[in-house]
Amino acid sequence: MIPAALVTHLRAACRIVVLTGAGVSAESGVPTFREAQTGLWVRYRPEDLATPEAFLRNPKLVWDWYTWRKKLVSEVQPNPGHYALAEIENHVTAFTLITQNVDGLHQRAGSRNILELHGNILRTKCFDEGTLVAELDDSGSVPPRCPRCGGLLRPDVVWFGELLPSETLHQAMQAAKTCDTFFSVGTSALVQPAAALPWLAMERGAVIIEVNPQVTPLTDQASYVLRGPSGEVLPELVRTVWGGN
Ligand code: OAD
Repeated sequence: MIPAALVTHLRAACRIVVLTGAGVSAESGVPTFREAQTGLWVRYRPEDLATPEAFLRNPKLVWDWYTWRKKLVSEVQPNPGHYALAEIENHVTAFTLITQNVDGLHQRAGSRNILELHGNILRTKCFDEGTLVAELDDSGSVPPRCPRCGGLLRPDVVWFGELLPSETLHQAMQAAKTCDTFFSVGTSALVQPAAALPWLAMERGAVIIEVNPQVTPLTDQASYVLRGPSGEVLPELVRTVWGGN
């Protein structure tokens, strides 16, 4: 059930920003990070798999783990939550989708103006030079080697201890500061700097909407909390506010 005041607000909204996290892909079958039992960081230690030091210690282990995750995301499909977000983009003047996800499912669902804060698991780059590499060599070395410099290749994702892509972060902060409406969807709102974005929007007077089945540090401050899975809540919201879908 979408509150009537929120429906009225959204029909007049001009600048919408959506921040998404792993929860938006959960209904596609992509595991989240911190949820009891199923979260990746409950089953694996980030220090072993998601830091530059871990990669240098055991590049094959890290490469193989990301290859497993890459296969997993390439075998799943966007869910109704992803499609609803792509639909919202058609109804407002300015729409920015800021995602912490590396799975590329928003692109596959048709979202266009996307800022990937944590990179994309489907891309590969050189560990030494940072240059993107489109074709992987088939020499059998694991990880494969950079065709330019011979360095080790790694996934183009942000690891713990690394900086976010600075231009992308800058654009995300600008969008948060200038929006009239900010959605936080499927994120535990714990990992910085992404977790600061709704607070930036709030400081500038934006209406904050949280979509999450669980409580987060943002919940108490949100203008509206839509409690439930995004694959159900977002399509209902789009239907109620803009019709169709
Ligand atoms: P988390 O695993 O921390 O949080 C997932 C959130 O999704 C939780 O708040 C869940 O309640 C919620 N959730 C679960 N199922 C949902 C559903 N069907 N619909 C809506 N919400 C649902 O994942 P993130 O917040 O994305 O960073 O984590 C942020 C970052 O921490 C990730 O990008 C990753 C990780 O370490 C890097 O790898 C750099």
